[in-house]
Amino acid sequence: MPFSSNSNFERYDSKLSPFRLAVIGSGPAGFYTAYRVLKDHPSTLVDMYESLPIPFGLVRYGVAPDHPEVKNVQHRFDEVGQDSRYTFIGNVKYGEDLTITDLKSQYDAIVFSYGASQERSLGIKNEDEPIRNIFSARAFVGWYNGLPQYRDLEPDLTCTDTAVVIGHGNVALDVGRILLTDVMELSKTDITEYALEKLGKSKIRKVIIVGRRGPLQVSFTAKELREMMNLPNTKFHTDFEFIKNELSANVDFISKNRPLKRLMQILEKGRSNTIGDKSWSLKFLRSPDEFLAHDDNDPIRPKYVRAIKFHINKLEGPPEKRVAVPTGKMEELESGLVLKSVGYKSVPIKGLPFDEKKGLVPNYKGKILDNDNNEQPGLYVAGWLKRGPQGVIATTMYDAFETAEAIVSDIKQNKPMLSFQTTKKGSDAIIPILHQRGVRTISYDDWKKIEEKENEAGRVKNKPREKFGRIEDVLFTLDTLK
Ligand SMILES: Cc1cc2nc3c(=O)[nH]c(=O)nc-3n(C[C@H](O)[C@H](O)[C@H](O)COP(=O)(O)OP(=O)(O)OC[C@H]3O[C@@H](n4cnc5c(N)ncnc54)[C@H](O)[C@@H]3O)c2cc1C
Ligand SMILES: NC(=O)c1ccc[n+]([C@@H]2O[C@H](COP(=O)([O-])OP(=O)(O)OC[C@H]3O[C@@H](n4cnc5c(N)ncnc54)[C@H](OP(=O)(O)O)[C@@H]3O)[C@@H](O)[C@H]2O)c1
Repeated sequence: MPFSSNSNFERYDSKLSPFRLAVIGSGPAGFYTAYRVLKDHPSTLVDMYESLPIPFGLVRYGVAPDHPEVKNVQHRFDEVGQDSRYTFIGNVKYGEDLTITDLKSQYDAIVFSYGASQERSLGIKNEDEPIRNIFSARAFVGWYNGLPQYRDLEPDLTCTDTAVVIGHGNVALDVGRILLTDVMELSKTDITEYALEKLGKSKIRKVIIVGRRGPLQVSFTAKELREMMNLPNTKFHTDFEFIKNELSANVDFISKNRPLKRLMQILEKGRSNTIGDKSWSLKFLRSPDEFLAHDDNDPIRPKYVRAIKFHINKLEGPPEKRVAVPTGKMEELESGLVLKSVGYKSVPIKGLPFDEKKGLVPNYKGKILDNDNNEQPGLYVAGWLKRGPQGVIATTMYDAFETAEAIVSDIKQNKPMLSFQTTKKGSDAIIPILHQRGVRTISYDDWKKIEEKENEAGRVKNKPREKFGRIEDVLFTLDTLK
């Protein structure tokens, strides 16, 4: 890849100063990149900017509360957090509080790892109407996991016994499982107290998870499907006949794909889940077309969602590229709670190239490319922003390592980096600027104090932690600790 010819850059000289790296976003991508660069190029100083006062991204605000083992990666991140070469600067929103111009003069390189902070939309009728009890799974997950943005979401779990989840990914199964899990079980997790209270009063007994394609095209995985099948007191239903037909029509395709074969076996075994007060089902070949609401003047549920109208699809194309094609037939599914779980979306930020179609920052192995495919000196990308909102933490880790390798290799090859200024001061120069702008910055030590408070509150309730749900409460608590 050629380098952009008109950029302001210089070659980093290790004799003049330590290598200064800014990381934007403190999820797995940011932490794994930092970890690897610090390991492979020990004279680096890493400053990580995060929009929330609290680090760890989706590990804290996405991963389901009943998956505590997944959150153990935080211990690895904590090692980075405690490293004297690392500085956390929380409560700073890149793009609003801080721009690329601010950073370019104080760093040799920047890694963008700010993830995918929005949800994909369906683009269907009434999606933008203020119909009550329709949420994105991102909002619902954020609500039960304590993401401040969704503290006041207020889903109504008492107005209906049926929830429909749109999408056949792991997030869809996460939200379905949380709705059907006994609250006694959830109370031992770090789910927020306000969510637990609402779930305790929930009348939801039936969760229907609807996908636009067939069983061979689902994107959820075996472990998560098995967890659904093992929900106590919960029946499972699907169109077993359709699955059987799909299996026999695609024997070769399935035999070459072990995870898919395993998944189909778990689905088939679900036939035996016939007893329980609660139920969940998988529906295939349904694309949402329109949300239908109760009248504004309905005496009981004004403007609440009542049903979803679906196109009934058929599948076309080769097994590995099956597409859903509408048959012209429609179906309505009644539901008083709808969760749209059709994936996350990254947003472009001024000053960075962005591929709107793919929803990511164009790059070659983590090196950011401009519109003409030229490498941008000193600019890197990692995680969901680099490859789209796909993949588990392990995938994100390998991807972040690739970006870290690109950085270290560029340093070693003396490739061009950012800015003309020789003495870069990193956060020592940026933090005073942020303070002048009225931004209150949060350090890693501050976070450790908050963490201790959360753990303390959790111990009283016999749970791992009780998360702060509001940014004001985090800041107020830090004030009282001064
Ligand atoms: C609901 C859900 C559940 C999941 N469960 C699992 C699981 O059980 N197991 C598993 O292995 N994987 C799971 N994943 C996948 C995993 O979370 C991702 O692979 C991983 O978090 C992606 O890492 P990232 O750093 O790219 O993004 P993120 O984790 O989203 O981190 C991005 C960070 O950037 C910050 N940020 C955003 N905008 C700005 C800005 N403008 N300025 C500064 N900072 C900003 C965000 O606040 C966030 O902290 C789950 C994903 C979701 C959505
Ligand atoms: N426990 C875990 O390990 C865990 C938990 C949660 C998330 N994750 C990971 O996080 C990533 C994101 O998960 P996700 O569930 O948000 O996304 P996902 O895996 O991409 O699933 C999205 C689902 O939405 C469907 N969809 C997309 N657009 C649609 C539309 N317009 N109409 C109808 N359906 C539509 C997709 O169907 P098509 O296939 O037809 O497009 C797919 O079934 C995944 O890699 C996942 O594995 C992991």
